[in-house]
Amino acid sequence: MRVISVAIPKGGEGKTTTSVNLAASLAATEKKTLLIDADTLGASGISLGYTADQVKSGLYDVFNYTHSLNRVIYKTELTYLDFVPSNISTVQMEERLLRLSENRTVMRIALRDIEKQYDYVIIDCPPTLRGITTNALCASDSVIIPMRASHFSLDAVMRLMRYLKWIREVANPQIFVEGILLTMHEPNTKIAEITGRELRSRYSKFLFKVVIPKNSTLAEAAFYGRPALLYNINSKGAQAYFELATEILARDAAKGKLRESVREDSGSYGEIPDSQRSENRNPAGPDSN
Ligand SMILES: Nc1ncnc2c1ncn2[C@@H]1O[C@H](COP(=O)(O)OP(=O)(O)OP(=O)(O)O)[C@@H](O)[C@H]1O
Ligand SMILES: [Mg+2]
Repeated sequence: MRVISVAIPKGGEGKTTTSVNLAASLAATEKKTLLIDADTLGASGISLGYTADQVKSGLYDVFNYTHSLNRVIYKTELTYLDFVPSNISTVQMEERLLRLSENRTVMRIALRDIEKQYDYVIIDCPPTLRGITTNALCASDSVIIPMRASHFSLDAVMRLMRYLKWIREVANPQIFVEGILLTMHEPNTKIAEITGRELRSRYSKFLFKVVIPKNSTLAEAAFYGRPALLYNINSKGAQAYFELATEILARDAAKGKLRESVREDSGSYGEIPDSQRSENRNPAGPDSN
């Protein structure tokens, strides 16, 4: 099971859109996928068509130790996609969740429950670093950083990179950057050009090949409570997220093959030598660049 957080400490960068559509695309390729909504606003749930009255239990109950993760899993329209909603309905619950998530290991321990059931777990994080995002990062193998072309987004990426360095030091030494994903991309604009240049000079090895175009179908699909591939599979948005899933699956397959060959060569389940790692799999951090 691979656990991937989708995070950046800034609002409106495409975290939820990426989480929902990546999870749906992975599920469409018959990978058993669980999407966890770790944002108290519950936007992933809304994007999958869940209304507040349909959500009787959720992640809050897991953090409150009243339910195991297994008991708060919901089905979706896609056979291979399941969902854990955020069921926060009051400010008091939100404050309590923040306190409960100070124990950084809650999510990691909760995920043990479902380890054998899923190929991928995607966690949609809120636009902050404290609390539940820290919990998600401590439980994750990797993080996807969606960002739009703007100066403030670049600042947020740098903040997250510094934070990941700290997470690696104190809690989760294995976490790596799955990739930085440009979202809402508008080619031939000055801001896209300068942000792209800045990103390539600082973080080129972390950039996904695929770029998500600005595409109104993605917003419309969320409005109607469906992943884009169930709303309009031929739209540029749905296709771009499918490409993202393909890029991640191809890397994972390559990594699996490499592991097998290392095992055959050495007779043991060795670590992949640095020289053979995929470029994008380097540990993150401004200093490792
Ligand atoms: N590629 C895209 N093209 C057009 N609209 C998009 C695209 N990606 C996201 N949007 C829209 O932009 C808005 C913000 O996206 P989203 O909710 O995914 O961001 P977020 O990072 O999760 O925000 P928050 O931090 O508030 O949770 C939404 O209305 C969404 O429908
Ligand atoms: Mg969101």
